[in-house]
Amino acid sequence: MPDQQVTEQAMQHTAKIPPHIAIIMDGNGRWAQKRGKKRVFGHKAGMERAREMAETCGELGVKYLTLFAFSSENWKRPQEEVSFLMDLFATSLKNESKKLHKNNVKLTVIGDKLGFDKRLQKAIDNAEQLTRDNDGLNLQIAANYGGRWDIAQAASKLAQQGVTEITEDLLGQQLITADGPEADLLIRTGGEQRISNFLLWQAAYSELYFSDLLWPDFDAQALKQAIDDFNRRQRRFGQTGEQVS
Ligand code: FPP
Repeated sequence: MPDQQVTEQAMQHTAKIPPHIAIIMDGNGRWAQKRGKKRVFGHKAGMERAREMAETCGELGVKYLTLFAFSSENWKRPQEEVSFLMDLFATSLKNESKKLHKNNVKLTVIGDKLGFDKRLQKAIDNAEQLTRDNDGLNLQIAANYGGRWDIAQAASKLAQQGVTEITEDLLGQQLITADGPEADLLIRTGGEQRISNFLLWQAAYSELYFSDLLWPDFDAQALKQAIDDFNRRQRRFGQTGEQVS
């Protein structure tokens, strides 16, 4: 079924669209290897899928989509793969930012941007500047991101301000995602069931959804299933079932 049709059906049948969906896009390498190709071929397909996912989420009325593109730990991968991912990221930012802008998407990169080379930093800046006033989908690309890094940099900012009474609110206000909501639905593809240092703070009350599909195979239909599953959950935020029903 074409993605557009799936999206329309999802809109008709889905009771509640999670305002913030976060995704660990795992399985690109295996997807490529299954086809007898190099791992980077899977990253290219993964990028295509990420683009489609942003479109689908925009159509569904998702307010925030956060994609884990490159973790603080991914630098340890073979140099060739790291370089490919950096090039893919820079090229995609350049090629896609106009279309994102046209679709009213606000793009931000969350992570330690200073770890990237100047060319990539410039491409990120340009895309962020171009889309900064858009009020459609907030697309957050987590790159050179780690949940522990985020909490540590927030604590470090408070220390620099001389704050000694550290509260959850104060720390939360210094996180890289401070302007947005916490994640409602956290999806991981690729069959593994772990968080891998993604949004540690912001996923405190996320509903977790694990899919065996490899990321390049995770289409609009699969997203609809995840959202349907989310709708069957009861979110209690520490309260009892009776209190929230
Ligand atoms: C995990 O699959 C994927 C990554 C570490 C990179 C994710 C990157 C993309 C989807 C493309 C770039 C996207 C954006 C939005 C910039 P894996 O390589 O660990 O797969 P494996 O578990 O099968 O080895």
